[in-house]
Amino acid sequence: MRYLTFALAKGRLAEKTMELLESIGFSCDEMKEKSRKLIFTNEDLKLKFFLSKASDVPTYVEYGVADIGVVGKDTLLEEKRNLYEVLNLGFGKCRMVVAGPEEMKDTLKSGQNFRVATKYPNIAKEYFYYNKKQTIEIIKLNGSVELAPIVGLSEVIVDIVETGSTLKENGLVVLEEICPISARMVVNRVSMKIEYNRITDLIDKMNKIINNE
Ligand code: PRP
Repeated sequence: MRYLTFALAKGRLAEKTMELLESIGFSCDEMKEKSRKLIFTNEDLKLKFFLSKASDVPTYVEYGVADIGVVGKDTLLEEKRNLYEVLNLGFGKCRMVVAGPEEMKDTLKSGQNFRVATKYPNIAKEYFYYNKKQTIEIIKLNGSVELAPIVGLSEVIVDIVETGSTLKENGLVVLEEICPISARMVVNRVSMKIEYNRITDLIDKMNKIINNE
């Protein structure tokens, strides 16, 4: 039997996913030991798991080196890979928003040109250019995006907000909501055919757990 391979976004999302998988019998003892290893296997069940940076999960799954991926909807929207999104896992909940200083609220509506700093240039483009038909300048950053409006690199940011404390502690507010975010399970298009039984069985079991059936 071939391995069923999972690409997980390393960190909390991978830990939560493993808890969920374990509850339906897809375990991996090797993964519980603290280490810096990136690949783990369960030889009995022929399962393989690897840990990658969140933004690379869709890439591993699209190229078929992983059959299944678990990653945030934010990453899926940004990476725009050709995958089947099969499950909303319900955890990793946060919101994609436009945030900035309170006084930017009117500028946002005015249609004036302004700068948007973000780790998510595709999401920002989609939102401002195609949904709102606004011409704005997008500045790609790689983290700590809240810094940009404070130091004057941009007027607003597009970012995820979970508890809201990062915004609050930096004197910023949510100006507009873009969409809700949570962890999703994605499947490679070919894997869905060649591993149809194993994958649909997995989806059914996960669905039952998620919906408390
Ligand atoms: C994320 C996000 C916000 C923060 C939101 O950043 O980009 O900065 O978390 O969380 P909160 O609403 O609970 O405060 P992350 O911690 O991933 O770091 P990064 O900005 O360096 O990518």
